[in-house]
Amino acid sequence: MTTILKGVLVSAPSLGELEIHAPGYLVLEDGVVSEVLDVLPQRYAGVFVEDFGNRLISQSFTDLHLHAPQYPMLGTGLDLPLLDWLNAYAFPTEARFADEDYAREMYCKLASELIRNGTTRVCMFSSLHRKATLILMEELEKAGLTGFVGKVNMDRNGGKNLQETTEESMQETLRWLEECQDFPHIKPVLTPRFTPSCSDELMAFLGKLAVERGLPVQSHLSENTAELELVRQLHPDCAQYWETYAKYGLWTEQTAMAHCVWSDERERAAMRKAGVTAVHCADSNLNLCSGVSPVRALLNEGVKVALGSDVAGGDTLSMFDVVASTIRASKARRILDDWKTDFLTSAEGWYLGTSAGAAFFGAKPGFAIGEPLHALVLDDGALPPLSTPEERLSRFITRRQDGAVRAVWSDGRRVL
Ligand code: GUN
Ligand code: FE
Repeated sequence: MTTILKGVLVSAPSLGELEIHAPGYLVLEDGVVSEVLDVLPQRYAGVFVEDFGNRLISQSFTDLHLHAPQYPMLGTGLDLPLLDWLNAYAFPTEARFADEDYAREMYCKLASELIRNGTTRVCMFSSLHRKATLILMEELEKAGLTGFVGKVNMDRNGGKNLQETTEESMQETLRWLEECQDFPHIKPVLTPRFTPSCSDELMAFLGKLAVERGLPVQSHLSENTAELELVRQLHPDCAQYWETYAKYGLWTEQTAMAHCVWSDERERAAMRKAGVTAVHCADSNLNLCSGVSPVRALLNEGVKVALGSDVAGGDTLSMFDVVASTIRASKARRILDDWKTDFLTSAEGWYLGTSAGAAFFGAKPGFAIGEPLHALVLDDGALPPLSTPEERLSRFITRRQDGAVRAVWSDGRRVL
């Protein structure tokens, strides 16, 4: 079936570049973009055009790193550094997801909040609980999201009621992989929580599984200096943190590593070579006093970079806010670098929050022909008019506008 959307089209085909059609037409065949046009040709006469007037039609967001079972603590407990914060707040909160009714209630709310905020693709940590992870996948699927969810593996250094034995972790992972096969839009990602949480035996098992089944991998890397020290003690054989993943086969172009705040030139070169995606989580990095990531250096050196809210180290689900903090953090980085590095522009921030994240799922950037539509309709009609779509996009990032997201498409389906 052919559908045509009309509005001010704004997309990010490459870093720093916006493609604007003001107005333009998005032609969809069964939800898949078939044409992007400035003028509608005669052959579409008679096809209904859904006209969004002066509103922006932009790409929707990808949140490439967040912790679903930390959603209940969103906006609280941000007064400790990473390792203490995990023990004091994150682990006890996640332990509650042994309760399936609680999981259902929380994950249903989380899924609809993501869609209302314009996020349609996610790469998400669940908790170690197999059943709650299946519930999460079900609720995301129901709300219309797409992407990856991982049952967390953690067989050491966990909290009270939040640790598995190595054997349990392996068996539950295999069972979960069996049980989640039929979700059409939500797929599994292997999720060793981070090196301090996983024994060598467990890491080796997951690395083997990733290769055997061609599964993607997500974890944390070089977030905090105390964490780096702990990893050094646990793996005296590894010169750098990344090698603790690489030695078990968990370091490939299907790997997403959150944070990379303290990744130096050597670690960044290893990311570029392997095609690992660095998931920058600006909110979380400041909230937990982890540091200010060298995003410009990562980009200049050719590392793949995307964005994550890192809920609940991050304090917002809104990727508008995450893009804004990303830009702000890049300005802090510039100051710390003696004004020698460039900060990110709005167009660059928008690209990182949309196209760059979508690339992890194999999607082409921008409103690419042949891709199922992931899009938002954005309304700023109540605010003073601005003269260009670029300025309006920049204001959507910087100025919080409740209710601005008026419609959402995910994988070609209208979901809001
Ligand atoms: N490292 C290991 N687990 C976590 C987590 O839950 N949040 C963050 N920010 N870092 C982590
Ligand atoms: Fe995280």
